[in-house]
Amino acid sequence: MSEGPIVRVENVTFVYNPGSENPTVALRNVDLTLYRGDYLVIVGHNGSGKSTLVKHLNALLLPTEGEVWVKGMDTRDPEHVLDIRRSVGMVFQNPDNQIVATVVEHDVAFGPENLGLPPEEVERRVEWALGVVGMLPHRDRASHLLSAGQKQRVAIAGVLAMKPDVIVLDESTAMLDPVGREEVLKTIRRLNREEGVTVVAVTHFMREAVEGNRVVVMEEGRIVMEGTPREVFSRVEELREMMLDVPQPTELSYELHKLRPDFPPDLLTVEEVVEEICRRGGGVR
Ligand SMILES: Nc1ncnc2c1ncn2[C@@H]1O[C@H](COP(=O)(O)OP(=O)(O)OP(=O)(O)O)[C@@H](O)[C@H]1O
Ligand SMILES: [Mg+2]
Repeated sequence: MSEGPIVRVENVTFVYNPGSENPTVALRNVDLTLYRGDYLVIVGHNGSGKSTLVKHLNALLLPTEGEVWVKGMDTRDPEHVLDIRRSVGMVFQNPDNQIVATVVEHDVAFGPENLGLPPEEVERRVEWALGVVGMLPHRDRASHLLSAGQKQRVAIAGVLAMKPDVIVLDESTAMLDPVGREEVLKTIRRLNREEGVTVVAVTHFMREAVEGNRVVVMEEGRIVMEGTPREVFSRVEELREMMLDVPQPTELSYELHKLRPDFPPDLLTVEEVVEEICRRGGGVR
């Protein structure tokens, strides 16, 4: 297996409607490297360029300037588009727009069938993919009767059945209730940790941003912060200045740190905060 980056975004600028009366510069000189096994989370305000960036990862958009390389293939090379689309699968926000068949297992089979795979291989992949997302018991059900969270997991299975190297999820939990959101998060975690799929997730929920091993913050078409969740979210004041949230446990630990400087300022999860408080014998004062 190659150890080099799986995706490289090099100095990409992207302009919608170039040459028109009102061109929009949506990306400005963006550099981003994705390694195999990464779970990269992208956050940023509405219109900061997150969707535009991820659409470059599978050649849905091509750079106005700069280059995007996927497994050594230039996304501008038309010969590679199919290979690139097979390597980088996309899951979008609205599960209803992604379900194509009336029965769950047919929906998941749709992609691999279109690859021209033999029926036994399609069957194997459908079972595997439905198993990974925890939907195997529902394989015979009517897709439209599923909850939004279940539909989104079927959509993920459909992408997974194509055996992509990378799965990109663009706000794929945004339309779900908290239960559905947790189901999908758990699924993404499993894809990444157990199946070795490289994940790129765009989200507005900071609680989801701590799931990744890397976080990127975008503003006005630029990457303005990058690092591990702890590195990024410890920059509480800068994030507040950008009017971005930090995860609630981090907010709490940051405020406790102000009262007691020996309390760590950069805890990410409820578990970490509880553990720290217990370690101190239950008191922070
Ligand atoms: N099809 C389009 N035509 C013209 N401009 C567009 C188009 N899509 C996006 N834009 C503009 O490009 C910029 C970046 O948009 P983009 O959708 O990438 O942001 P985003 O971070 O994904 O936002 P959101 O959080 O709302 O999904 C915005 O100014 C947006 O208005
Ligand atoms: Mg978007």
